[in-house]
Amino acid sequence: MSNDPFMDFKRKQRESWTTFTPTATFTTPVAAHLVRFAGIRTGESVLDVGTGTGVVAVTAARTGARVSALDLTPELLVEARENARIAGHPEITWQEGDAETLPYPEASFDVVVSQFGHMFAPRPEVAVAEMRRVLKPTGRVAFVTWPPEHLVGRMFSLIGRNSPPPPPGVAPPPLWGNPAVIHERLAGAFGEPFFEPGTMVYPALSLAHYRQFIEATIGPMRKVVESLADAPDQLARVRADFEALVTPYYVDNQVRQSYLLTRAPVR
Ligand SMILES: C[S@@+](CC[C@H](N)C(=O)[O-])C[C@H]1O[C@@H](n2cnc3c(N)ncnc32)[C@H](O)[C@@H]1O
Repeated sequence: MSNDPFMDFKRKQRESWTTFTPTATFTTPVAAHLVRFAGIRTGESVLDVGTGTGVVAVTAARTGARVSALDLTPELLVEARENARIAGHPEITWQEGDAETLPYPEASFDVVVSQFGHMFAPRPEVAVAEMRRVLKPTGRVAFVTWPPEHLVGRMFSLIGRNSPPPPPGVAPPPLWGNPAVIHERLAGAFGEPFFEPGTMVYPALSLAHYRQFIEATIGPMRKVVESLADAPDQLARVRADFEALVTPYYVDNQVRQSYLLTRAPVR
């Protein structure tokens, strides 16, 4: 029997991310930004936490780094292995696992990266301690997150308002996009963080196209829609709220989503 009180939460998370694959088209350019921002070099050992379909892991391997990658959701790792095969990097090591209990010895990596991944681990302090533990004393962490005040952060608030509450002690993922919170969470284990903003772009023929895409691919939103199958008026309200939220970010048939990059050396 497990003594992890968050196990049921993580089981639901794992199920909810199984439909993420089509979204990786849009996280692919961000992966290149993260790998450049992290300064990943030939021969360095790199761990990608919450790798999904492997966009960061494969991009890092293309620079000549030795890459390991981990994700909670095995269905996405099947896609990741295929992406690595196509890209000519079958040497990447893939592992099903949890950001809160990384299955690697201490001081294994030069760089730990995470693109919209570790932000979904329920206890930030546990994920930070694990990322620090597996880094060499000369190592660094670099990650990308969605700030709470921009589109995806606000989308997660909308999802939260229409979902059952998470168990006590689960931190809201978009707090990982707030520089003051990042400072506080990294202090002790890491040196001064450096930040850089970025924007990712989703082409969409209409707001309804974008909404349908998000409903089909982003598990937490899919769950909201499924839960309102017998409440059409409420579902229509949530959909209207969603489209109203996205409207100011939708320009020239593109939805523009701001993200935040952070990097910090081991202390
Ligand atoms: C938004 S997706 C990002 C995937 C990929 N990094 C990308 O940018 O395309 C979030 C990923 O985090 C993974 N994830 C969520 N909670 C996790 C945890 N506790 N440990 C490891 N991975 C987790 C999900 O399975 C999913 O693949």
